[in-house]
Parts: sequence; structure tokens; C-alpha cells
Amino acid sequence: MTQDEMKKTAAIKALEFIEDDTIVGVGTGSTVNHFIDALASKKNDITGAVSSSEESTKRLKALDIEVFDLNGVNEISVYVDGADEITEHMHMIKGGGAALTREKIVAAVAKSFVCICDESKQVPMLGKFPLPVEVIPMARSYVARELVKLGGDPVYRQGVVTDNGNVILDVHNLDIIDPKRLESDINAIVGVVTNGLFAHRGADVLILGTPEGAKVVK
Ligand code: 5RP
Repeated sequence: MTQDEMKKTAAIKALEFIEDDTIVGVGTGSTVNHFIDALASKKNDITGAVSSSEESTKRLKALDIEVFDLNGVNEISVYVDGADEITEHMHMIKGGGAALTREKIVAAVAKSFVCICDESKQVPMLGKFPLPVEVIPMARSYVARELVKLGGDPVYRQGVVTDNGNVILDVHNLDIIDPKRLESDINAIVGVVTNGLFAHRGADVLILGTPEGAKVVK
């Protein structure tokens, strides 16, 4: 089974967590694209979706799934999104697709976070995947110097502008022993919008795509 087939297996399994007549939180990325395609089969059962990126919004609308502005929505029962890395504690690194800030906002509103990924994303410790940090453009160099003080090696993601008009620094070689603390410490740097550590709000359910099928971890 290819990595993409494993992603698709996990994405299809996530449909079982979607309740009728609710607004579904939808993440971003290649795994989520499979989920959006599968969600189309339930579009008449759900109220609609809140999206975490322009890319996902476009795909949802192309499939005639109504997309709501988060400000007009009181409740999201389930948020479905991928991850770049996830541990057994359900802490994640996200933001490989540069959508981390909107993803974190929708995840904060949702009652439950269902993470869908292929088995390669499960790791014993976070940090091999460089940690994305969304930064206000004028603060880029200052934030990079502060990230070096925290022990990381920030690399400017050239040519990428987020949906919020900001830039991304990918931080290599961080020792992520305490993900909650590091998440807070990086977010405290002036000029940082947010970082891709999802530790304070981790996943509630993990659906792993494996060659043997989808494995659900709660
Ligand atoms: C986007 C993300 C994605 O969830 C993450 O990068 C995983 O992507 P994929 O499903 O393509 O492997 O955080 O900002």
C-alpha cells in the first residue's frame, strides 16, 4: 500500500466520527483532501463545514459543501485534520502546509479533534520534522534570533505567504522534551502569530492509515 493509499484509508474512516446536522471543522493537506472528497457523500446529512484554509475552502465549495465563516458558528462538534508528526500523547507538529494558525483556531473551537494520517507520522518524540512558526513579516529577523536562543535553527520558507499574509520560519534541531512549554515559549515571542506545536490542544482521536487498514487510537 502506498503512503497516499494509507492517508485515504484514514480519511475515509474519519467519516464515522461525523454527526448528522452538525458543522464539520476541516483541516488542510493531502490527507484532508481525501477526507473532503469522502465528505461529499455526506453533504446532504451535515449542515456544512468551517475550513482552515483557502485551499480547503476551494475544494469544499467545488463539491457543493457549504462553507461557514467561523465567526457565525457557535459550535463545531468534530475537527478533522492531518499532522506532520504525532506522539502517543497526541501532541502534534502541524503546519507543513502553512495553515497552522487557522488550523489552531478551528481546533480550539471544536469539541473533538480527529487526527488522520498515515503510519509514518507517528513518532516517539516530536522535532525531526522542522517546527513551522508563522511570523508577522517585519518581525522575521528578530523572531529568528529569538528562536536561535531557544536552541533552534530557523529557516525562512522562501516564497510562501500564509492565508493571513504572514511568513513561515521552519525551525530545525529543536529539543522538544516539553512540547507544552515550548509551544507557550515560542508563542510569547513578539511577532510570532503561532507555532505548529499542538500540545495544549492535542488530538482526541488518532486514525492511522496502515497497510492492514485504519487503526483508531483514543
Ligand atoms: C497543514 C498541515 C497538515 O495537516 C500537515 O502538513 C499534514 O499534511 P499531509 O496530510 O499533506 O501529510 O498541518 O498546515
